This record gives sequence, structure tokens and C-alpha cells, in this order.
Amino acid sequence: MINQHLLVANYKANLTIREMEEWLKRATPKLNYIKEVAIALCPNFINLPLTSEKLRGTNLFVGAQDVSQFRHGAYTGEITVEMLKGLVRYCIVGHSERKKYFGENNHLIAQKVKLLQEYKIKPIVCLENSREAEELSDLIKSREIVIAYEPTFAIGTGEPETPTNAQKMAVSIKHYFGEATPVIYGGSVTPDNIASFLDQKDIHGILVGGSSLNPEEFVALVHQVAGI
Ligand code: PGA
Repeated sequence: MINQHLLVANYKANLTIREMEEWLKRATPKLNYIKEVAIALCPNFINLPLTSEKLRGTNLFVGAQDVSQFRHGAYTGEITVEMLKGLVRYCIVGHSERKKYFGENNHLIAQKVKLLQEYKIKPIVCLENSREAEELSDLIKSREIVIAYEPTFAIGTGEPETPTNAQKMAVSIKHYFGEATPVIYGGSVTPDNIASFLDQKDIHGILVGGSSLNPEEFVALVHQVAGI
């Protein structure tokens, strides 16, 4: 039984350290008493230690946006699970932007998922259709994951998927991954349309991109979900 919605803020390649500090200063006091929703903030790597430090002792979680498929070693520029351990609870994997701009494929994604699970970091695996769900369900053995349904046409376009189609996809995802796997939706979610997605029986949360950048807008999203 999945009884708490999960709201994930994916700031992508945005927010300098100073801007992240400001974001946290403005949003955290309005979020850290909320129990109805699980909230995970996923800043860029540079902002992870700061975010983790500032959120210590609150009920907000921290997540990363990606991780290396290597544990450690001579892989210039990589951030590994060993480095993330202790800093994050979640890690987004296989976002469509990673596929589009960095050539990631499902085999690589499955490798990353396996490593994260070994280090007890929960992967939030992004996919955009049933074919990918089927392929990934074959490649990923453990079901200790969250799946994010993220159709590319809806990402950053202001043209979200319809809640009915998102629900259909969630059912299809659960067909491949099992009923107990939480499915969240991402793509042009705003305070105005968030409720229509969370009203769907098999959608357990939201991955928020653009609407997470402004702290007041993100707080409004959370408050909407928490019924405040
Ligand atoms: P968006 O991004 O909310 O800006 O559409 C969603 C995502 O990519 O996770």
C-alpha cells in the first residue's frame, strides 16, 4: 500500500550555490513541518552538500540528478555512488535529457540502478513509454525503485500529458514492475494542474522541473498536495 505522495524537485542544471542557499532560506521554513507529502529536493552536484547540511533534522529528503556507472577510479569528471552515500536518499536515473544530450541507454541506466541499490540509495527511474517499461523491467532485477513516467513532449513545454493517459501509463508500468512499485508523473506540472494528476489512482507523486525553480511556486505545489 503506497499511502504518501512523493514530490520531487528536479532543478536540472540551474541554481548557483548562492541561489540554492536563497531557495532553501525561502522555502524550507514553509516545507519542513509538512507530513502529508514526502518531499525530495534534487539539486545539481555542487549544491548537494549544502542542501544535505541545511535539511539535516528536517523531514525533507535530498536526491541527486544522476550518478556514474562506476564505483570509483580513473573516470574524470564523474560523481560516484560512494560520494553520494550519506548525502542523498534518492537519485534520478535515465532522465530523457540524459538520453537526448548524453547518449544514455537502458543498459547503462540498469547498471546505475544496480549500483545505487547496492548503496541503499533509491533510484527514481525515468521512462516515457510502455516499450521502455518492458525493456527496463527485464534489465532491472530489484523492485526497490520509483518509476517516473516522463513523456518528452510534456517536459518543459507547458503541454502536460492528460491525467487519464498518465493513469493508463501508470497501470502499464505496474504491469511490468509490479503493483507495489510507486509511479510518479513528470512534465509541465504546475500548482494549477497538480491535483488532476494526483487524483489518479496509480499516480503516487510528481517530478517537478520548471515549477521547482521558484521557491514560492514549489511551496504552492506542496501545499496544494498537502491540502493546506
Ligand atoms: P518540467 O520538467 O516540470 O519542467 O516539465 C519535468 C522533468 O523533466 O522532470
